[in-house]
Amino acid sequence: MEHQICNLYCQPVTLVRVGVDGVADFFDSEIKKKQPQPLSNTETNTNLYNYHNDSNVFELYDELKPLGDEILKACNFVYQEILNHDSDLRITNAWFNECGINGGQALHNHVNSVLSGTVYLRTDENTQIEFLNRHIVSDVTNQIIDEPNQLKENSYGYYYHKKYATFSVREGDCMIWESYLRHGYTNNKTPNRLSLSFNLFPNNLNCLYKI
Ligand SMILES: [Fe+2]
Repeated sequence: MEHQICNLYCQPVTLVRVGVDGVADFFDSEIKKKQPQPLSNTETNTNLYNYHNDSNVFELYDELKPLGDEILKACNFVYQEILNHDSDLRITNAWFNECGINGGQALHNHVNSVLSGTVYLRTDENTQIEFLNRHIVSDVTNQIIDEPNQLKENSYGYYYHKKYATFSVREGDCMIWESYLRHGYTNNKTPNRLSLSFNLFPNNLNCLYKI
């Protein structure tokens, strides 16, 4: 049938390229070796190890500062030029994640931040990240759930029925999204999949309040 669609309230996930030369080597030689008992590897996050996930590695290590500056610039662009906020942002924490074969990270979102993201440092052709469609299901209200067919391609090429959006990522990709968006990955096939994640907070709220 002939029709038109107005795509209301789309969800942006932004990809920018950043310089990551030497960062994976720095992690292996300076961080992993000196912190042999990282956090994590829980029931839902298997074979996954976080390093400095209660800190900001851009403040801890001068060597990482140029990468932190580049990420902050990209996040301010997303926040101000794409999402239309007045305030600039500050990075509140940044940490490394290393995941072994068959590992994964259950769907989750980040609290106490407005924008979050991940830079990929060690990837291969199998490295991916998934985002849960925030419109598709509510955990907290009663509703009739009639799951659309996830396996059938839509004849018009639409993807409104998709529960997840999956992106393949490569070294140097920096994915930036609003912190409430749930994300994760399963059944990792990349040996020592390495990434650096970060959260940001605004310096002013609602175009008014300094915080
Ligand atoms: Fe995350």
